[in-house]
Amino acid sequence: MIIGKYPSLRLRRSRKNDWSRRLIEENNLTPNDFILPIFIKNGKNSKQPIKSMPDVYRYSIDRLPYVIDNALKKGLPMVALFPSTETKKKDLVGSEALNDDNLVCNALKLIKKKYKNEIGVMCDVALDPYTSHGHDGLRNSGYVLNDETVNILIKQSLLQAQMGCDVLAPSDMMDGRIGEIRKSLDKNGFKMTQILSYAVKYASSFYGPFRDAVGSKGQLKGDKKNYQMDFRNSDEAIREVALDVKEGADMIMVKPGLPYLDIIKLIKENFKIPVMAYQVSGEYSLLSNGISKGLIDKNVILESLISFKRAGANAIVSYYADRLDKILK
Ligand code: PBG
Repeated sequence: MIIGKYPSLRLRRSRKNDWSRRLIEENNLTPNDFILPIFIKNGKNSKQPIKSMPDVYRYSIDRLPYVIDNALKKGLPMVALFPSTETKKKDLVGSEALNDDNLVCNALKLIKKKYKNEIGVMCDVALDPYTSHGHDGLRNSGYVLNDETVNILIKQSLLQAQMGCDVLAPSDMMDGRIGEIRKSLDKNGFKMTQILSYAVKYASSFYGPFRDAVGSKGQLKGDKKNYQMDFRNSDEAIREVALDVKEGADMIMVKPGLPYLDIIKLIKENFKIPVMAYQVSGEYSLLSNGISKGLIDKNVILESLISFKRAGANAIVSYYADRLDKILK
């Protein structure tokens, strides 16, 4: 609907001055809009650069207080933990996922003891950081088995909830896992543990640097197309979300972010639920490398992040989350 007519109406009038542009802004970012992913590793007093992700590090557990203190100082509501598991601890069935002494469990114990409910902690539910083949579940002749995998994910979820995880985030794309995980959480006294379902996760080449960060890259056999979504589809995204909402998901993740703004908008408009966008590792690395090579200026970061808000995302998982104040200055 267009009301008004040139020359009595000139849209450039309201764009002329900065104060006026600020006055009519429709979207903005605050620290509440961000979730900070943190990569954790074994060892002591270790902060290890990740080659494919400039300025992102893997931290040993004893270094986590520095990272969390900074996240709190920046006003971030939640962090997300991702383990970089030693190769020798990986096997065909991802046993290490169920070890209550694994990296994620130890990180949860430390953070929840020291920070209580000052900050939310979200954990991935999936087996790929723990399997020797790099897939999110059990495999049989190259096919990732659904129900057998869900049985393990239920246990992984319960364990993480017991260790104090606030938000379980199944990122595995198995069918039916949200309902099963919700049932088991409720039965075992974790009625208030939230589920953020990666309901819409596409089989994407934008995850490359992440797989490097968690050490599953060299190991990954084949691709993830028999469980992650086909990027040619969007009706299917609605069906995925509808199922997960019915099964008890509190929030929905769309992933990757930038190439899927239409999906964020579609889900928000159809379901009116909290929708999170994941600005994934490939998006991060492309922007960061483009900026450091002088190909584009750093304002592309703000421009990309605002596009998620414009599309309707409530919050954004971003590797820039803890440095935005500096970057945007
Ligand atoms: C695995 C998982 C992936 C990411 C988050 N959890 C990668 C994958 O599915 O292969 C990707 C995040 C990123 O690229 O930043 N369950």
